[in-house]
Amino acid sequence: MIVKQKQITIRSPDDCHVHLRDGYILKRVLPYTSKVNSRAIVMPNLIPPITSIKTAIAYRKRILAALPTKHNFIPLMTCYLTDSIDPNEIEHGYREGIFIAAKFYPVHSTTNSSFGVTKITRIQKVLERMQKIGMPILVHGEITEPHIDIFDREARFIEIILEPLRKQLPGLKVVMEHITTKEAAQYVASGNKLLGATITPQHLMFNRNHMLVNKLNPHLYCLPILKRNIHQNALHKLIASGHCRVFLGTDTAPHLRFFKEASYGCAGVFNSPSALPAYATIFEEINSLEYFERFCSENGAKFYNLPLNKTTITLVRKPWKVPNGIYNNTLIPFLAGKVLNWRIKSNV
Ligand code: DOR
Ligand code: ZN
Repeated sequence: MIVKQKQITIRSPDDCHVHLRDGYILKRVLPYTSKVNSRAIVMPNLIPPITSIKTAIAYRKRILAALPTKHNFIPLMTCYLTDSIDPNEIEHGYREGIFIAAKFYPVHSTTNSSFGVTKITRIQKVLERMQKIGMPILVHGEITEPHIDIFDREARFIEIILEPLRKQLPGLKVVMEHITTKEAAQYVASGNKLLGATITPQHLMFNRNHMLVNKLNPHLYCLPILKRNIHQNALHKLIASGHCRVFLGTDTAPHLRFFKEASYGCAGVFNSPSALPAYATIFEEINSLEYFERFCSENGAKFYNLPLNKTTITLVRKPWKVPNGIYNNTLIPFLAGKVLNWRIKSNV
């Protein structure tokens, strides 16, 4: 990594957690991911979800067909775990290189999770097989029982589901996706080499006050929900420690504006247009730019046993205003209308 006063050049990043959607939305949002990242791990929560080799191959084809011709980008596919998923399908897909991992959504935990797992014991055979073949499970780490407060969902998940699971299957490779709490930060920091975590730019940059105080900002509403500032600070501390298994996963999750600014607004922050400058801003603010490249471009690849990317990307220290809206304001990007200190060089 080369850090100068005015610019940073890093190896091209991998976004280890993206929602690219499908159909015409896919074509609109994909370029924001593929322009910046060499690879991305694509979440399977479509309707219907990606639960087979066949549907994953077809989705990958649609992604590649939607890619701008000049972008060199590899989508890495995941399989959506359901109560009835067949361990043989999972193993076959992993061995053939179709699936890089499988995603565990507790039922009703987030967008399009109604096909998710109703009880972890129902996928016991699948988990045993994943442990055997070394296939990572990517967890949406939230308990969904109605009596548990939404702000406690992540901490309780660790206690009730994750820790017992990792005790029972100590060889299972796990990524805690989009962590948001001090409990999750501590858990990953004290974990072994089989435990990794992703962090989004919104959970680093904001806490729940930013979403709820004065006026409600639906464009910061995502799941897991933003927490108190003590949790935000714990995430800062984790990335400032340069932890080698904590990596970039934006969780970019576009929803049409109409569905965000609504009586029952959808969860998800469309952050791919501004994510990398936003991460750079945070790393600089907490005096940790020395770990920026590892977080963006090395830790994830190493965790997934992927070769490091060979190309580079440069960020320039020059004020950049994030667009107010995209596609006739039908999509509102993270930090819309805000000015960041960093921009991607090709935007200069
Ligand atoms: O806020 C979220 N939106 N969290 C998720 O886990 C899923 C995502 C989506 O797909 O919209
Ligand atoms: Zn997600």
